Amino acid sequence: MAFDFATPIERRHPDPRGADWPSQKWHRYGEEVLPLWVADMDFASPPAVIEALQARVAHGVYGYGLVPASLRRALCEWSARHYDWTILPDWQHWLPGVVPALQVAALALTEPGEGILTLTPIYPPFLKVAERSGRLAQQARLAEPTAPGEPWRLDLAALEAAITPQTRLLLWCHPHNPTGRVWCDEELEGLAALVERHDLLVASDELHCDLLLEEGARHRPLAAAYPALATRTVTLWAPSKTFNLAGLTTACAVIPDAELRRRFVARCRGLQPDMNVLGMVAAEAAYTRGEPWRQALLAVLRDNRRRLVAAVAGWPGVSMAFPESTYLAWLDMREAGLGDSPQRALLERAGVALSDGADFGWPGFVRLNFGTTPTQLVQAIERLDEVLAE
Ligand SMILES: Cc1ncc(COP(=O)(O)O)c(C=O)c1O
Repeated sequence: MAFDFATPIERRHPDPRGADWPSQKWHRYGEEVLPLWVADMDFASPPAVIEALQARVAHGVYGYGLVPASLRRALCEWSARHYDWTILPDWQHWLPGVVPALQVAALALTEPGEGILTLTPIYPPFLKVAERSGRLAQQARLAEPTAPGEPWRLDLAALEAAITPQTRLLLWCHPHNPTGRVWCDEELEGLAALVERHDLLVASDELHCDLLLEEGARHRPLAAAYPALATRTVTLWAPSKTFNLAGLTTACAVIPDAELRRRFVARCRGLQPDMNVLGMVAAEAAYTRGEPWRQALLAVLRDNRRRLVAAVAGWPGVSMAFPESTYLAWLDMREAGLGDSPQRALLERAGVALSDGADFGWPGFVRLNFGTTPTQLVQAIERLDEVLAE
């Protein structure tokens, strides 16, 4: 079946009748700006998801829902089929987002004053988790590429050096936002040994794991690859990035260990709102019938990545680690002559909105979202060429 990833969809003035459906991506900046920042894509969700939503909307009654057993089964099947990990329906705690889940993990699994460790650069909310929960913020840096084309790497020595007796929880991102890195077995093995050695717990944010871009690549959930970690790990998944459903606020914490799960779920009581009934319908349709669309999406993202790699090659002083996953590209602009905020310079001079590396803990970098139609990506590249090309 052919899916349309080519026709741009109007997101600034989406409703011909004039209703306002503002999006974070398209309404933060002025009409003249092309937004390639926040991580949502400019594509409609899979037709199977839209059909399922239409049927649910037509019912007309949107009272409190329950997580359907069929959704739990759908995630079990997705996990077995795509990651070779047999999970049980009971291990799943559905909640309205991965960021709230990181926060819950902090509150449920650590005590005040204990350390929460993460690695930079990183998706900005990771950097706020400790402060927001009254815990000690601890950070280590990934090893940056030493030559163009090299990947960002896990620096185990730096990570270990950042661990203190207070350290309790590691916030891990796998695959990694913003570098697009898919961690290799050697890195994961080293990480697993370190987690055990220091008796840590892990919140493993695997939100981007269905978007591995290399042909034949297969995601290995941390908890599945290292069974010893299964009792220490909260794995966070959602259909939101893969199927472009972020506004339907539906995610899942998979927690095999009964005691860890009990603590996590107890922390949610009274705070976590009931699940979005539309989000659950969309998630189930995506996991059960979205696979052909996902395959087509991956092809589009690979093409977009190719366009971007070619463009970056013509921008002196700019380098990009090859994104192995997702639709985010992490660009080193420190030598591009754009001053202390390349993000601001490109917003003002090119009219392209990117994410500021400073928010990820690395000023001088920007993150570019290439999850858009080829037409819109080419327009943005042309604008960036005006400022960056030789
Ligand atoms: C790694 C990562 N975690 C979490 C989120 C946000 O997830 P949610 O919208 O479910 O809170 C994002 C969004 O871009 C992300 O990239």
